[in-house]
Amino acid sequence: MALVTLKYVLENARKNKYAVGSFNFFGLENLRGIVKAASENKSPVIAMASTGAVKVMGEKVVVVAAEKLSEEYGVDIVLHLDHCKDDLEMLKRCVDNGFTSVMIDASAYDYEENVRQTRLAVEYASRTGCSVEGEIGHIGGVEDEIVVSECEALFTVPEDAARFVADTGVDALAVAVGTVHGFYKLPPKLDFDRIKKIHELTPVPLVLHGGTGVPDDDFRKAIPLGVLKINVGTELKVNGYFNVMKDFTPQVKNSDPRKVALKIVDKCSEIVTEKINVFGSADRL
Ligand code: G3H
Ligand code: ZN
Repeated sequence: MALVTLKYVLENARKNKYAVGSFNFFGLENLRGIVKAASENKSPVIAMASTGAVKVMGEKVVVVAAEKLSEEYGVDIVLHLDHCKDDLEMLKRCVDNGFTSVMIDASAYDYEENVRQTRLAVEYASRTGCSVEGEIGHIGGVEDEIVVSECEALFTVPEDAARFVADTGVDALAVAVGTVHGFYKLPPKLDFDRIKKIHELTPVPLVLHGGTGVPDDDFRKAIPLGVLKINVGTELKVNGYFNVMKDFTPQVKNSDPRKVALKIVDKCSEIVTEKINVFGSADRL
C-alpha cells in the first residue's frame, strides 16, 4: 500500500461517478482516524495538511506517518498539501519529500499572477509526478487563521476557469461557487448553475472547499455536476478534536492523554465515514 496521486484517484471517481473526501489533519490522531475510515469503508481518501499543519509536524514526518498508516491499514491514500499561499519553498519541500498532491492557492492575486505562480508549482511538481490543484475565483471564510471577508470572496467565472486550466495545466480546480471556509452563519447557497457551466467548459475535476456544514443533499447534487474532490476541515478540527478534548478530558482518570487520543481517532473516523457514505466513495477499492 502506498501514497497515490490525486490525478489517479480522481480519474477513478470520474469514471465511477462519486466524489472523494479530502480531510484536514494536523496530528497523528486525526490522520489515523482518516486512514482508519478509508480502510474500514474500502474508500479512496485524501489526507490533507495545511501549511500551518506542516509547520507543526514537519513535511518529512508527515510523509512517513502517511506512508506507514497506509501500510498499516492496507489502503492507498493521497497525501495533499492544502492552500499553499506565498510559500513556494514549502510546496517544493513537500514535493521533494513525497507528497502526492499539492494545492497552490494564488487566487488572491490577479489572473496573470495567479497563472504565473500556479505554473511554477505545476512545473516543479512534474519532477515527481505529484498532482497540482489550483484555485480560480476566491473562496471566502477562515482558512489557517487567514480571514477572507465575504466581499473579498469572488465567485469563479466559468470562462476564466477554462482559460486558467489551459494556461496552467493543473490537475484539479478549486472553484468559488457559494461555499466558504469555517462554520456557516446562514445555510450556504451553492450556485449549481455555475458549477455546471464551469464543468461544461473545463476538462479537470472540480474541487469544493468549505465542506463543513454543507447539507448532504447539496453534496449529492454537486457531484454529478463535476465536483469530484470535497474538502472538509473545520468539522474534524472542532467536532473531531477540540470538542472531544473539552468534553472527554475531565472524565479521564489519572489525566491519561492516551485515552483522549483514542477517542479523537474514533471520532475523526466516524466523521470521515459519514462523509464517505454521502460522497458515494465506499466500496470502491
Ligand atoms: O481547504 C480546506 C477546506 O476547504 C476546509 O473547509 O474547514 O470549511 O470544512 P472547512
Ligand atoms: Zn479550502
